[in-house]
Amino acid sequence: MKKLFIIANWKSNKKELEVKEWIDKFKNYDLRFKNKEIIICPSFIHLPLLKSYILDHESIRLGAQDISKFDEGAYTGEVNGKQIREFAEYVIIGHSERRQNFSENEEVVNQKIKQAIKFGLKPILCVQDQNFKIQEKVEIIAYEPVFAIGTNNPDTPENADLVSTKIKENNLSNYIIYGGSVNSKNVNQFTQKPNIDGVLVGNASLDPLEFFEIIKNA
Ligand code: 13P
Repeated sequence: MKKLFIIANWKSNKKELEVKEWIDKFKNYDLRFKNKEIIICPSFIHLPLLKSYILDHESIRLGAQDISKFDEGAYTGEVNGKQIREFAEYVIIGHSERRQNFSENEEVVNQKIKQAIKFGLKPILCVQDQNFKIQEKVEIIAYEPVFAIGTNNPDTPENADLVSTKIKENNLSNYIIYGGSVNSKNVNQFTQKPNIDGVLVGNASLDPLEFFEIIKNA
């Protein structure tokens, strides 16, 4: 059985009370899946709360949604790798929403990857196709075509597998995952493809039951 990563990207959603409600429901579900690693990526401010919850759970890990391209220091508003490492193991880098809304280009993405690696964080690098250049080996690459994000219009599993295969051929990363309108009904069409090693889930991860169903059906 291949290893699968099921990753929740909550984006800029949820107040503290809503995070607590999500945890209260999610902790009732049986998460003993041998081959599935679950990674939750909340807003920075909710990492401490989630860390205290996941302590009991072998199979759950935490990730941040971004990282400063700088070390610690005079960079108002930034959260650096050293700070993130206290709470999380993974970090999403180069999400298309950051590329679009915060002008993140390849240079910035590469600087962030370097920062993550420097502080022992595992990058989850988001790319839109197979044409990108990175200087380091990253843990996970997520293929997320923009047309499929938040649209209920996922890529076809066949094309997602084709792009994943090309990414695997050109990079040293072990794991390529798919993201874009994944839900509990379509998840296994992606995860059963030979070169797709998991999913990165936005909207559908905000609901604990739906996210659990995604994990179960993957
Ligand atoms: P949706 O699952 O809401 O399409 O978002 C995908 C995504 O951007 C995950 O990072």
